[in-house]
Amino acid sequence: MSWMDEVPRRYLSSVEPYRPGKPMEEITRTYGLTEVVRLCSNENPWPLPQAVMEAIAAAKDGINRYPDPEAYNLKRAIARHLGVSPLEVAVGGGTEGVLCTLFQSILEEGDHIIVPSPTYPVYKLTASAAGGVCDPVPLLEDFSLPVDGVLQMCGPRTKAVVLCNPNNPTGNIVPGKDLLNLAVRLEERHVLLIVDEAYAEYVTDPRYVCGADLFRQASNVVILRTFSKIYGLAGLRIGYAIGPKVIIEAFGKVRRVFSVNSVGQRAALAALGCGDHVAKVRDMTIAERRRVHKALSGLGIRVHDTHANFLLLEVPRAEETYEGLLLNGVIVRLGEDLGLKGTLRVTIGLPEENDRFLSELDRVLRRIGR
Ligand SMILES: Cc1ncc(COP(=O)(O)O)c(C=O)c1O
Repeated sequence: MSWMDEVPRRYLSSVEPYRPGKPMEEITRTYGLTEVVRLCSNENPWPLPQAVMEAIAAAKDGINRYPDPEAYNLKRAIARHLGVSPLEVAVGGGTEGVLCTLFQSILEEGDHIIVPSPTYPVYKLTASAAGGVCDPVPLLEDFSLPVDGVLQMCGPRTKAVVLCNPNNPTGNIVPGKDLLNLAVRLEERHVLLIVDEAYAEYVTDPRYVCGADLFRQASNVVILRTFSKIYGLAGLRIGYAIGPKVIIEAFGKVRRVFSVNSVGQRAALAALGCGDHVAKVRDMTIAERRRVHKALSGLGIRVHDTHANFLLLEVPRAEETYEGLLLNGVIVRLGEDLGLKGTLRVTIGLPEENDRFLSELDRVLRRIGR
């Protein structure tokens, strides 16, 4: 062992890098395919609205200049959109970038966060990279949240509980009344409740309480949102948080000054003004989700109902099925990578992409046996 091995921060030795869904280029290259369908990262496949395309085109004239470091217009628009003060809004390079900055601004080395399991792996990763310790709490068998289990896990160094609502990869929601109950009981313990609402815009269930409402009812809540999902801007990397002013101020001391680029700021601003388009994408996604769900049930596959733009399927030989789909140009997500063995997570794509997935899956299952 050389001294160089001692140079990286000690706690990084236990940090596993995130493995994202496979890029189309890699599959095209590796398997010599021309037509690849990417259903592994819960992106929105529908074309962007005209107003957003125009904002992107207009923004290109200014890319020789640094972006507005304060993202003044975007933060004001987000604040208006959710009915909060601009001083309660922070923006960053996707939820991922926001999480990195948030944890760097609230965690001392050795502080704990509580994270239900399975969930989006980036919470553990970004908290660990900031010196935090992640305590997993298993979800119940039906994937619901064990509120008392979470509270029992709180210790003297617990800084925050992080929930994903709807949860990735299980797709279920924590009903509003449970969320408020949890927030209040965490407040008594001086613990933050961080809620990642990456898929909030897809939810139509009346039991769902949007984070902005929760934020107004409890003083210890931080909500994370993104332009990567229903707004269709994953490639531009824009996410945001709303939170108590003191947290947002701390965030402002740690953040990368120019973390949200100028094209992203203009595009996100335009996207916020396209509420009708967002509702249309939601409705088309839900209609496709129902159709795919029904077709999968017809193939004898158990499918978990979700509130987001993906489905979770139980398949007998998940890894083989996943590989078989990949070889035929359909990229889905292996549930095991997200903590759920024996499952696949598939994003709802365009109707023709979903058809391709269904027919390739049928073919693969016929070959390897159901
Ligand atoms: C729960 C959840 N949060 C956040 C993200 C990523 O968001 P962003 O692109 O804003 O980093 C994802 C992406 O898959 C996700 O599933």
